[in-house]
Amino acid sequence: MSTDGCIVVVGGTAGIGRELSRYYASTGRETVLTGRDAARAEAVAAEIGGTARGIALDLARPKTIRDALSSVGPVRYLAIVAIQRDDNTIRDFDIDRALELVTLKLVGFAEVVHVLLDRLSPDSSIVLFGGQAKDRPYPGSTTVSTVNGGISGLARTLAWELAPIRVNAMHPGITGDSPFWHGKPPAVLEGHLSKTITKKLATMDDIVDGTRFLLENPSVEGIDLVVDNGRMMF
Ligand SMILES: NC(=O)c1ccc[n+]([C@@H]2O[C@H](COP(=O)([O-])OP(=O)(O)OC[C@H]3O[C@@H](n4cnc5c(N)ncnc54)[C@H](OP(=O)(O)O)[C@@H]3O)[C@@H](O)[C@H]2O)c1
Repeated sequence: MSTDGCIVVVGGTAGIGRELSRYYASTGRETVLTGRDAARAEAVAAEIGGTARGIALDLARPKTIRDALSSVGPVRYLAIVAIQRDDNTIRDFDIDRALELVTLKLVGFAEVVHVLLDRLSPDSSIVLFGGQAKDRPYPGSTTVSTVNGGISGLARTLAWELAPIRVNAMHPGITGDSPFWHGKPPAVLEGHLSKTITKKLATMDDIVDGTRFLLENPSVEGIDLVVDNGRMMF
């Protein structure tokens, strides 16, 4: 097992976070993955096997995050991946749903970094997940676009404040094999991929690969990495 600290994957029970956890556990690095429910997080960690372990953490209740992370030791890599989707428009604005997502992605992400600061070292690095809804809104993306734009600002200010700890943002485009898109009519995904330059959609492996680049390349700092096959602006 690697001795220079674990990776913490917040939102590691599903989708991209789960694949990121699977990758790092396969390298022998201690991998702490989180979800809201302890039993589910432990079950996913057991399925991944090796060095993975699961703990419960709810980003939408930021005052509980310190206790939730109390069992975590030295941290080399921190990836904050979690999302709860919010279909919201300004004409039909749902305050409770907006508050939940804004709290989760902005306050919750920041509080995780704050709490883990005493376990990070100068060569640690952090990746915060936004998404391309920041630049390419769609009907109902009011809060999603807002928080994903906020992630760019959060990553940049943390990069300045925490240097030499590096902080970057990952912005996936539509990730066609992720669970969110399972079961959607093929025409929906075909419509999306027709708008990319490559006529392909990103895969979870592509996003994991980009996240590893941000976490591990020692000269990449304070950037927004877009992995979306060159999605065009319409
Ligand atoms: N998939 C895409 O096409 C796509 C596109 C653009 C951007 N992104 C971004 O990529 C990231 C991963 O997306 P994904 O589709 O892979 O996600 P996902 O499959 O929906 O998984 C979401 C994860 O977040 C956790 N989570 C949900 N609510 C939480 C809360 N209140 N506190 C802590 N954890 C919570 C879930 O765990 P539990 O349910 O176990 O609590 C789960 O592990 C997100 O930040 C998303 O915005 C994804």
